This record gives sequence, C-alpha cells and structure tokens, in this order.
Amino acid sequence: MSCLVEITDLKKTYDTGGVAFEALKGISLDISVSDFVAIMGPSGSGKSTLLHLVGGLDRPTAGSVKVDGHALHTMDETALAKFRRTHVGFVFQFFNLVDNLTIQMNVELPALLAKRKDRRAIRKRANELLASLGIAEQAPKYPWELSGGQQQRVAIARALINHPTLLLADEPTGNLDGASGQEVLDILNAFNRRGQTTLIVTHDAVAAAEARRVLFLYDGRLVGDAPGGDARRIAQQLAGSEQECVG
Ligand SMILES: Nc1ncnc2c1ncn2[C@@H]1O[C@H](COP(=O)(O)OP(=O)(O)O)[C@@H](O)[C@H]1O
Ligand SMILES: [Mg+2]
Repeated sequence: MSCLVEITDLKKTYDTGGVAFEALKGISLDISVSDFVAIMGPSGSGKSTLLHLVGGLDRPTAGSVKVDGHALHTMDETALAKFRRTHVGFVFQFFNLVDNLTIQMNVELPALLAKRKDRRAIRKRANELLASLGIAEQAPKYPWELSGGQQQRVAIARALINHPTLLLADEPTGNLDGASGQEVLDILNAFNRRGQTTLIVTHDAVAAAEARRVLFLYDGRLVGDAPGGDARRIAQQLAGSEQECVG
C-alpha cells in the first residue's frame, strides 16, 4: 500500500509562560492510504498534539510531516488553512456544530468555506451523506434538537463533505453512551472500507480494536505499534506499554 502520511522525527514544544514543555519528543511513522489507525495513550501523552500536526491545525517545532506529498512543516498559516479545507475532515469529542445553522447547513458549511461553486454537487453530496448516516430527516432541524449520537453523525457528514484525503477524529466516542459510540465506530469503519483513510484518537480499547492498526503514545513518544482487532489484547498492550515506561 502506498504511503499517505510520512512523519519523521516530529517534535512539538509548547511555551507555557516562558517554560518550554516538550509534548512530542521525536515521532517517526508512516500511514498507508486507506488505513484505519487508532492512537492510544494516557491523558497528556500527546495524542491530540500529534493529530493536530497531521491535520495542519498546528505546526511542529522540529521534524517533518508530509501528507499526500504536501510538506506541512514548510507551510505558512495561509497554506495550512487551504490544505485543511481541501484535504482534511475533523471530528471532535464535543461535535462542535454551529448552533444557529440547520443540520443541512452545518454539513455544507466546509464546502462553502472552501469556496466551492458546485452548489448542486454540494447539496447532492450532503444529502447522500445524511441519508447514509441515517439522519436525512434531521436536515431541517438545529443541533440542539438532536441526540449526541445524531450530532456526532452530523459532524462526520460535515467532515466528509469535501471528500477529504484524511479523516481525523479526536475521541469521537468520548462524549457518547456505549450504543451511540458503537454506531459512530461502525460508521467510521464503513467509510474506511470504502477507502477513507482514517486516524482516530481514543483511550478506549474497544474503540481502538475497530481500527486496523493501533499506535501507543507515552509521554510524547511512540512506544508501540500493533494490529487492531482484539480489545482485550489492546488493553493489555496499553497497560504494558505504560508500565514499561514508568518502570
Ligand atoms: N496549547 C498548549 N499549550 C501548552 N501546553 C499544551 C498545549 N496543548 C497541549 N499541551 C500539553 O502538552 C501535553 C500533551 O497534550 P495533548 O496532546 O493534548 O495530550 P492528549 O491528547 O494525549 O491528552 C499535555 O501535557 C498538555 O498539557
Ligand atoms: Mg487529547
């Protein structure tokens, strides 16, 4: 499989009131086209930081990130914003829908922000996504009229409207009950089977087991890389990697 994301010796240092904090301490990894990767690790291990750097939401302190041939570490803010609009779909833990826009408009918003002129194609894509996510009837409603699980499905539709090269999700099931969370994972899985490269952050082994590949982060370093599939084994590997790092 060809390589979509190439990360080499990636470092991120935050300046916290004059004190430097190294959140990522040199991460190297490749992600293949059409892969489904889960990033696991304890709170504060650098999972969101890594996801943000891959999605061009932030810039590294050192090292390189290439996505689909775009060298994000060399880009300025304007170029990164364009890259995000055209290549990346984000799904967040707390949905982040726009309250005063209908579901239909929330889903179409990234297409308008990307200044796409193909209005009919946008509407068609939005309606197809809403239908395939089982929320077509919610289109005229507002976010607050929907359940959490429905809102996250809207967020997934919004993330996919521009046919992103990369779908990124930070704890997408973290604010959902078990059944709604499983539905969201099933949806991500279904899109991945149709070729959508997907990268999720989770600290839930059951969620990570849905992925094809699981990366373990600890204290800003990549400490493990294993296949998905078995939640119990993944939970053991996570505990093992933490013990090894502490011990
Ligand atoms: N904008 C920021 N400024 C300063 N420190 C930050 C910032 N973002 C994250 N951090 C710190 O970097 C570390 C990693 O954060 P994060 O990537 O959010 O971890 P995770 O998603 O694994 O919980 C944490 O210690 C966090 O406090
Ligand atoms: Mg996080």
